[in-house]
Amino acid sequence: MSSLTITVNGVEVRGNSHEPLLDQLERIGLRPEYQCRSGLCGACRCKLTTGAVSQADSMAFIAPNEILTCCSTPKSDVVIDFDYELLQDVKSPEQDHSGNDEKTA
Ligand code: FES
Repeated sequence: MSSLTITVNGVEVRGNSHEPLLDQLERIGLRPEYQCRSGLCGACRCKLTTGAVSQADSMAFIAPNEILTCCSTPKSDVVIDFDYELLQDVKSPEQDHSGNDEKTA
């Protein structure tokens, strides 16, 4: 596994060279749009500004400077941009149903 940097909408995050970008972005709590997760719909597309990816065969229409994050794995540090603001998962205190109110320093 090789570690690399993914800059997504101007924010740098750590990534790797063995998983599709969509999976990596979701694991850090970002929520890019997607539907099929198999290169058919094009919902997950974004612009690849810098770097290179290995992209599996796909049927979706994309522009020459675009990639499909569901089937593209970074081969180097990459800079990608979605044309919308990515939602991010934020765990609120109401979501913690453990019943444990203890806090530690
Ligand atoms: S989610 Fe459909 S092409 Fe990526």
